[in-house]
Amino acid sequence: MIQLIRGFKDILPGETELWRYIEETSVSLFEDFGFQEIRVPVMERTELFQRSIGEETDIVEKEMYTFPDRKGDLITLRPEATASVVRSYIQHKMYAKDPIRKFYTIGPMFRRERPQKGRYRQFYQINAEVFGIESPLIDVQLILMLVTLFSKLLVTDIEVHMNSLGCPKCRPKFQEALAGLMLSAKDKLCKDCRRRSEKNPLRVLDCKVPSCREAMAGAPAIVDFLCPECTRHFETVKEMLEKQNIPFVIDKRMVRGLDYYTRTTFELQTGLLGAQNAVAGGGRYDNLVEALGGPAQPAIGFAIGIDRLVEIVALNKEELVKKPDVFIAALGEESMNRAFEWICGLNLEGIRADMDFSGKNLKPLMKRADKLGAEYVLIVGERELEEGSAILRNMQTKDQAVIPINSIVKNIKEKIR
Ligand code: HAM
Repeated sequence: MIQLIRGFKDILPGETELWRYIEETSVSLFEDFGFQEIRVPVMERTELFQRSIGEETDIVEKEMYTFPDRKGDLITLRPEATASVVRSYIQHKMYAKDPIRKFYTIGPMFRRERPQKGRYRQFYQINAEVFGIESPLIDVQLILMLVTLFSKLLVTDIEVHMNSLGCPKCRPKFQEALAGLMLSAKDKLCKDCRRRSEKNPLRVLDCKVPSCREAMAGAPAIVDFLCPECTRHFETVKEMLEKQNIPFVIDKRMVRGLDYYTRTTFELQTGLLGAQNAVAGGGRYDNLVEALGGPAQPAIGFAIGIDRLVEIVALNKEELVKKPDVFIAALGEESMNRAFEWICGLNLEGIRADMDFSGKNLKPLMKRADKLGAEYVLIVGERELEEGSAILRNMQTKDQAVIPINSIVKNIKEKIR
């Protein structure tokens, strides 16, 4: 038997209903906030991710599915969507008509991480990205949208973690402050971090290797080195979050795993998931549009991990699974032929109708209706056909009504809706 690839998974009926509920709830909320859907490809030129996520990140160094296509060009299955949305914003010169754009996109991402609970090699994200707004108020609005979604989905035990990573003006001072520590701790750092320490010290602070964590435990935090503009920006974000009654914690150690971030960064963390505690993450990437060849336009966004979110929504999955409105228990060939016409007619009218095609007698048919969870059963046999009526049974109350066979689709529709 051919099995699926490690780290990949099937999402089966019984689960897809919850996935779709989450997606539909997000779409409806995001559209209320003025977001429009954008769809971008799952493959891009490798260079796009190298230049945006960053050469020294774990994602680019270790986790991308990259391969040459038949002509030898290097292509990559997208590990995230932000880079593609930025590429699209630039490529279609969307900024020319209106630089302020709000997009959402939903789809699969691919990272070759070590598979474990809450961590897959193909996983799904709901992304929201805003272009062209520098005001800290949009940071607050995005976080408000995110926490509102989680409360709509009845997710409890969620904490907003915030940090500011400053701008290129803040970085040199921070790097200076780190330099001494980096030098003295060099022997304790892993091979990757030794290489990263000079060019990209934020990556060392993000390293998961225990010896690196230990060595960096007393490291200064970038939020303590912000320039006056970045300080003011972050102060406003915090003040306005408080005004909106959105609780948050400042997490000076949170540097996020992608190089493009500037200023506000945030994660939604939960205690319900074990080690993989981030269910959403995002932040500003004010320099990325320009870095990828577009005009200087600020931007901010986030991505929610749907795989992790489905694990923690306190919704009853069973209730989301759609059951037949009516099951037709047809006895004998003639009744079955009529029943077939009726279920087709009912399906076309938007009524979920089903029947059995194997010519069983009443007892197993009622059992089948029960198993499917049908709300009503329409019983029809030779006698009913002769009399021109059929029996409609409410499976919950057990009430039965005799309804005429003439225009049965209309009659059933009236009875059950
Ligand atoms: P990220 O933090 O890499 O950010 O991913 C966002 C979320 O995707 C995580 O919080 C997590 O829930 C989920 N996730 C990531 N990797 C996996 C995995 N291997 N298995 C299951 N779930 C996973 C980004 O991707 C940024 N592009 C977010 C962003 C958008 N920033 C600005 N705009």
